[in-house]
Amino acid sequence: MRSIVDFIPSFLLPVAFFAFLPFVRASLHYPDPLTSRLEHILVDTDGAFRSGFKDAITPCDNYVSGSQLLGRETSGQWLRVAFHDFVTARVVNGTGGIDASIGFETLRAEDTGSAFNDSFAFWRPYVDAHTSMADLVAVSVVTVLNNCGGLQVPLRGGRVDATEAGAFGVPEPETSLKDTLAEFANAGFNAADSIGLTACGHSIGRVHHGGFAQVVPESAVTPNNTGGGINFDATRGTFDIDVVLEYLGGYGQRGGPLVTTDNVTVRSDLRLYESDGNKTMKTLGQSKDYFFTTCRGLFQRMIETVPKEVALSDVVKPITVKPVNVSFDLNSNGDVVLAGSIRELSMTSSPSSATIDLLTSHVVASTTAKSIGQTGSSIFGTTTYFPFSITLSRPGSSLPTALQVTFTGQRSSKFSIEPRLFYSSSLSSASIIDAPPAGSNDTSATAQFNISAVAAEIMSDVEAIVNVPTPQQGTLAPKMVAHAVRLSKNEYIYSGNVKLNVDTTLLAGVTVDIVGTGKSGKITDSYNRVTIDARA
Ligand code: HEM
Ligand SMILES: *[C@@H]1O[C@H](CO)[C@@H](O)[C@H](O)[C@H]1NC(C)=O
Ligand SMILES: *[C@@H]1O[C@H](CO)[C@@H](O)[C@H](O)[C@H]1NC(C)=O
Ligand SMILES: *[C@@H]1O[C@H](CO)[C@@H](O)[C@H](O)[C@H]1NC(C)=O
Ligand SMILES: *[C@@H]1O[C@H](CO)[C@@H](O)[C@H](O)[C@H]1NC(C)=O
Ligand SMILES: *[C@@H]1O[C@H](CO)[C@@H](O)[C@H](O)[C@H]1NC(C)=O
Ligand SMILES: *[C@@H]1O[C@H](CO)[C@@H](O)[C@H](O)[C@H]1NC(C)=O
Ligand SMILES: *[C@@H]1O[C@H](CO)[C@@H](O)[C@H](O)[C@H]1NC(C)=O
Ligand SMILES: *[C@@H]1O[C@H](CO)[C@@H](O)[C@H](O)[C@H]1NC(C)=O
Repeated sequence: MRSIVDFIPSFLLPVAFFAFLPFVRASLHYPDPLTSRLEHILVDTDGAFRSGFKDAITPCDNYVSGSQLLGRETSGQWLRVAFHDFVTARVVNGTGGIDASIGFETLRAEDTGSAFNDSFAFWRPYVDAHTSMADLVAVSVVTVLNNCGGLQVPLRGGRVDATEAGAFGVPEPETSLKDTLAEFANAGFNAADSIGLTACGHSIGRVHHGGFAQVVPESAVTPNNTGGGINFDATRGTFDIDVVLEYLGGYGQRGGPLVTTDNVTVRSDLRLYESDGNKTMKTLGQSKDYFFTTCRGLFQRMIETVPKEVALSDVVKPITVKPVNVSFDLNSNGDVVLAGSIRELSMTSSPSSATIDLLTSHVVASTTAKSIGQTGSSIFGTTTYFPFSITLSRPGSSLPTALQVTFTGQRSSKFSIEPRLFYSSSLSSASIIDAPPAGSNDTSATAQFNISAVAAEIMSDVEAIVNVPTPQQGTLAPKMVAHAVRLSKNEYIYSGNVKLNVDTTLLAGVTVDIVGTGKSGKITDSYNRVTIDARA
């Protein structure tokens, strides 16, 4: 067995002074963990390293949660979940909105249907320390509209999940016009906005006999549509102006079941659409561009309706040159290594190699990274990946504080890196040590985490924070639980062990932050994913 001293890179020993740079991180989540994560779901939709969100809605009338014969569709469900989460906001009081409280409300009559738990079950494994269920609700709306109609709604992040159910107040098919408008008004939407948002939403999806038998008769149930779904418009998988044109023109679906049903009490869309003498619907129907622009604004307002404590981030923009999974570690010789990939996003041609330099005031190490075969694609362009690994073994070299990427003929991109304190994936381990017997439907288990970090200067109060998505009663949204573990020092390595309860369906969301206090203040290496091995 190697002694721990073998792991200490010789150049770490003469500890240098490092200028304090804000926002530098050992794991390079650019420009920050939240934005990096949401950008991934937004942009990496197809091909290599995709997030999987678009797969669920491909084709756009796909149903990811069960048999296609049910006649249900995930894209419609995602929009409807967001609407139900949003509309119980009380904007005068700054409460509710997109906060994933809908997850606790699935047994309410006003939230009838399988959409809520179907969607939460799909989103659940994506929740982690920087990905709230509420942000997943928002990014899903944006993903559906991008990919099933080409409407680009700006996305911001930073929503916070509710810890309990919120207010009542979702309009139902039998709700009076007056009450419906009052419920929208609570959420900050006036009559024209309410008509608009409803028509925009009801461009996708269906009303089902299963759940809404008072609206859709049993005759809609067929062997390949066992849920008995009837479209709102000709194109149930596409966000487009059809629902408005078919309503105004009296052809096709004529606005859908909530306009045309025999049961007058539940003609909620007809009541709403003609509440101003069809004025708003006629305005929406004037052109595709007008419909798209109006819907973009309304959907954006919907997903940006959040509790007053929540500060949303800037709009998440596709990043041209993005470090992915870039982090420090020690190799088996005890040398410091910086490794990961660079993702390049381009609408035109993709380069075949990149020069990667590590810098202090000058270049201290360099490599050429070649693109790998697999690429990704999306409405934002093609992504090409350039994996690299740079070993920093030379004694006396100073620790780099920046990573620079240069594609031939293009301007360089520079990213700050933080080598003074980092999580070591190779010196750490995690495994399930206790789990229910195979075949059990119980997904709770105990995992042993042995965590090590490497410090390049003397640190105090070095801790690991293990962020564990944990099931909670009454909703499929996990809550994040942070467990602090004190790490003890052995030369430059800080280590600690802990046993924690985990859920075997939520292991992908477990991350570790390393926190310590050095000469110039607190240093954090956050959002390191941990691979948890099955029981040996
Ligand atoms: C007066 C207001 C509204 C009422 C009464 C209403 C009612 C309904 C009902 C009864 C369904 C059928 C659900 C099912 O059978 O599974 C439905 C579906 C849907 N609603 Fe609404 N809705 C309203 C407004 C909105 C708004 C503002 C949006 C905007 C995002 C929206 C988005 C959707 C979508 C996308 C579907 C299709 C769901 C699917 O295919 O599973 N609705 N709505
Ligand atoms: C806002 O909060 C006050 C005090 O709790 C409450 O009386 C009022 O009904 C709330 N307003 C809305 C629109 O829910
Ligand atoms: C019409 O809808 C109302 C409200 O849901 C319901 O009470 C009534 O039974 C329905 N009528 C028919 C004939 O289905
Ligand atoms: C469903 O079955 C009907 C006949 O029962 C057929 O006309 C229709 O094309 C089928 N739809 C799909 C999507 O298979
Ligand atoms: C609104 O338009 C619909 C569909 O064209 C029509 O059936 C309805 O009579 C109109 N209502 C009013 C008040 O104009
Ligand atoms: C980044 O790491 C995740 C696991 O944490 C992995 O699923 C993904 O494929 C990696 N991406 C790249 C580009 O290496
Ligand atoms: C798990 O299995 C037990 C019996 O094997 C059953 O009673 C229980 O309902 C199941 N629970 C779930 C959530 O499926
Ligand atoms: C983790 O630490 C425990 C307690 O020191 C030890 O028994 C176990 O062997 C370690 N596991 C690994 C994989 O290093
Ligand atoms: C949705 O899932 C939650 C959490 O498991 C559960 O409590 C609730 O009853 C489910 N709702 C429906 C409609 O099945």
